Formats: sequence, C-alpha cells, structure tokens
Amino acid sequence: MNNEIWMKTRNYILFYLNGERHQISGDQAGVMLSDYLRYHKNLTGTKIVCAEGDCGACSVLRFFPYYSGKKKNIFLPINSCITIVAQMDGSHLVTVDALAKPSQAAQPDHTPVQKAMMNCHGSQCGFCTPGFVMALTGLVEKKICQKKTEITSADAKNATTGNLCRCTGYQPIIDAAKNISVRESESVMKRFYSSASQKEIEQHLKIPVNISNESFSFFAPTRLKEALAYLGKNKSVRIVGASTDLGVVHNKRKLRLTQVLSLHLIPELYDIEKDGKTRLSVGARVTLSDLRLYVKELIPEFAKFLDLFASPQIKNVATLVGNVANASPIADTPPFLLTMNTEVEIHGPKGKRFVKLESFFLDYRKINLTPKELIVALHFDIPQKNESLALYKISQRKDLDISAVNFAGRVAWADKEKTKIKDIKLAFGGVAATTVRLYKTEKSLTNEKVSAEKLAQALELLHTEITPLSDLRATSAFRHVVAENLFHKFFREHGVGHE
Ligand SMILES: Cc1cc2nc3c(=O)[nH]c(=O)nc-3n(C[C@H](O)[C@H](O)[C@H](O)COP(=O)(O)OP(=O)(O)OC[C@H]3O[C@@H](n4cnc5c(N)ncnc54)[C@H](O)[C@@H]3O)c2cc1C
Ligand code: FES
Ligand code: FES
Repeated sequence: MNNEIWMKTRNYILFYLNGERHQISGDQAGVMLSDYLRYHKNLTGTKIVCAEGDCGACSVLRFFPYYSGKKKNIFLPINSCITIVAQMDGSHLVTVDALAKPSQAAQPDHTPVQKAMMNCHGSQCGFCTPGFVMALTGLVEKKICQKKTEITSADAKNATTGNLCRCTGYQPIIDAAKNISVRESESVMKRFYSSASQKEIEQHLKIPVNISNESFSFFAPTRLKEALAYLGKNKSVRIVGASTDLGVVHNKRKLRLTQVLSLHLIPELYDIEKDGKTRLSVGARVTLSDLRLYVKELIPEFAKFLDLFASPQIKNVATLVGNVANASPIADTPPFLLTMNTEVEIHGPKGKRFVKLESFFLDYRKINLTPKELIVALHFDIPQKNESLALYKISQRKDLDISAVNFAGRVAWADKEKTKIKDIKLAFGGVAATTVRLYKTEKSLTNEKVSAEKLAQALELLHTEITPLSDLRATSAFRHVVAENLFHKFFREHGVGHE
C-alpha cells in the first residue's frame, strides 16, 4: 500500500454488539453479518430464511453516527443477511438475543414488545418472530424518540413491511404491535449505547480501514482521493454502498464480494444540500430513509413514492446512488430522476465530470462509468409551483415487490388553469433495456393545449418508444397496456384532457 496516499490505517473494523466491543480483522470481516452472529458468536436468535433481504427474519438494530440531514441518534432495523461484517465498522448493533434481561424467575424479563407478541399470539412456529420483534422494537424506539406512546395499525404495518410470516395471518402480530406498552419500554439507545463507546468509535472513524487477506480485502478511506488511488491500482475491486443489491447477488454466488471498497468513512458523501431553490444534491452515502425524511415537504410526491420502495430494513441502509449505479431497468428511482434533469457527479483519475442521467445509462446494466471512477453525488431539480409531478409503481404485490412497470411524469404548465403544456418529461422503467425518456411523445405535447385528441396522438407515439419484454413479472402486451393506463392516469389526476 502506498504510504504517500494515507499516513495511517487500521487493519481491523470496530463495532459494538449488544453493548460489547468487537474488533475484527482477517477473513471474519468478510462473512455476512447474519452468519457471523449465528456461527461465530452463537447469537442464534437471529434467523436466516431467504438470505435475500426479503423476509426480515435476520433483522438486527443498528445505530451509525453519520446520518444525513439532521443528525439522529436512533437505532434502525436492517437486514443482517445481505450485509458484510466489515460494513458494520463504526456501528452499534443490537440483536434479539440481548433484549430480554436475565431474571431469577423461570422466564427471563421480556421487553414489552416480546410480551405483547406472546400475549396476542403473534408467534406460531416462531421462525419469523425474532425478525418481527426487532422490527417492532425499532418502531418503539422511534415512538420513544418522538415522545409518542400510541401504536396504530398503520404504524405496525409500515414497520413490518419487510417481515414475512407463514403462520399467523398477520392480524395477531398487528394486534400485538397495538398492545405494546411504549411507556414501559426502555430505549435501546439507553440500554446499549454509551458515550464512552461512541467516543472511541468516532476516533476510529477518522482512520482509514485496510484489511488485506488472501480471500477478503476491504478498504475504507476517509478521503475521496484515497478512494480514487485505490481504484486506480485495484482492477477487480467492487464499490459497495449498502450491498442491498450486491449482497443478494453474492449470496446467490453469482459474484463474490472478495475485494471491497467502502466509502462509509467519507463524511461529505452523507450530505444532502439544496442548491438555491431549484436543485438538490444527494451524496453517494445518503440512504433512502434519510432522503425520504428530507424530501417529505420539499418533494412530497417522491417521499410518498419511496414508501413503496422495498422495506424499512432496506431503506435504512440502501443508497440512492446504489439504485442508479446498479442500472436495473426496473429500478424505482431512475424514472423520477430522469424527469428531474439529473446530473451524475463522477470523480476519476482525470478529475470530475458531470454526466446527464440519460447518457449515464448506456444499455442493459451498462453505465457510463469506468472502473477507475466513482459516483460522488446526484444533482437534480426540485419541482416548482407551476409544475405537476406524478410517480407510479406497478408490481404484483403492493409492498416489498419489484416493479413490473414504473413511471414518472412532470409537466410545467404555461397557464394557471393547467390547460397548456410548456414543458413535459415522461420516463418509464420496465419497458426497455434501460429506464427511458419518451422524447417523441414529449415533443408532440410541448407547447400544446391538452385535449383528448392530443393525448390519443401522443399515445400512438408512446407505444413506438417502448420495447417491453415478456418475463415472469409481466408480458410485453401487459406492459404496453399498463404504460398507456399510467399515461392516462397522470393527466386524469391533474384534471386535464379528459372530459
Ligand atoms: C428485498 C429487497 C427489496 C428491494 N426493493 C427495491 C425496490 O422496491 N425498488 C428498487 O428500485 N430497488 C429495490 N431493491 C434493490 C436495492 O435495494 C436498491 O437498488 C438500492 O438502492 C441499492 O443501493 P445499495 O447502496 O445497497 O447498493 P449496492 O448493492 O451496494 O450497490 C449497487 C451497485 O451500485 C454500485 N455503487 C454503489 N455506490 C457507488 C458509488 N458511489 N460509485 C459507483 N458505483 C457505486 C455498486 O458497485 C453496485 O454495482 C431491493 C433490494 C432488496 C434486497
Ligand atoms: S434472511 Fe430473509 S431478509 Fe435476511
Ligand atoms: S410464526 Fe411461523 S413463520 Fe411466522
């Protein structure tokens, strides 16, 4: 390793697990967190069922000090089955095994969440139960933070979107959630976090990590130039965001995460910033949960759309940049970003460049990024008052499902009455090898008064601009019909063009 680039590194990662210090180096840092907990630490409360982030049985709680926007001190649920141990550097983790306190009685002293699950028969075979308990403990933690005591059915459903149960039919679990005594719950933060451990972690976060073994190497620099130098020298390295895409592929053995570059120690990558009133910059480490909080009032349509994205466990770690760089044609954020004049800020050996998102997606899973480059941020428009924005997702299941088709429509109106279009941007996912903008359809509507006739003409063009495949999610014909319906829905919802 070149000492001119970094003065000091550590060859281990540090995290606190159930309040105990864990310093790990060597190959152990490269195993999945769920495996580490179960097979290295004998913390078998955490279950592994799908190993794909889908069922939530492996949920653990995590607090990591770098959060974008307003700094929050809160433990959040994440999936341990698609997370490499090394990615937990700097975290405080809590597993289900540590929740109940030992007691003199026959039963340990269970938490109010555990008691409610037992009292309301929220568990049958029990395999999913630790995951539900952790998701609900995360919800209680949030309620404690918000100084609220009531848990509604909606709260319970939202918090457990990422948890599957084959036995209970869910109602007893929702009843259990509503019966949790938040007042009697002790905060996980209070029980498992100490300022002394946090101080140690914060000191460590200033020092790059360099673990280099035969079967696993992990580099986490504290500055971008160190990251670029490392990329320049290591051809087969993988940049890892939260590995909610990469971890699944790794577990399916379609690729192995053996040489990893993590950007988690670079503080500026957690920034979300407004550039005046019209643009927003989102750093490469910004999670979808943090982004959702930030855009709640600024771009409410996007915040609402993110509610349909994956599960809380996934969004608490997954990055917006990872969703773009993964370049799946059915990824959910690219249609929105394509209508928002998004520029991808890329840094590489020759400095920085800005690429329009339209030119970033080259072909199926091919992007305009060389192996020596990385994405630092995405910059995109904030919709203005004279505009309408709509984002739709069509999937077989409402929650925690991948889109068959997704859509974004943005119109700048020429008049207050919203009858004439000044500018329009339309983008679809799931209808071609990449997410696509419909340039011809847009052109046919620009500077035009909206009418049923105009929309019908535009629709003819729309069908020529999409080339959907048939796959297990939907047939090509179905996707054509859905695209047409979403186009109509967009105009109908804004009250124009339909008598
Ligand atoms: C259960 C489950 C549900 C999901 N649901 C949805 C869903 O509803 N909608 C949806 O769109 N997606 C969904 N996903 C996919 C995934 O969560 C998202 O794509 C997520 O945003 C990926 O972010 P990440 O940080 O985990 O990326 P990673 O998996 O870490 O990386 C993804 C890709 O981005 C690259 N990358 C990451 N950061 C950078 C960088 N700074 N510079 C260059 N390249 C980089 C990586 O090398 C990799 O190629 C789901 C995944 C799971 C497991
Ligand atoms: S084991 Fe299913 S989400 Fe992790
Ligand atoms: S209780 Fe059996 S899977 Fe949930």
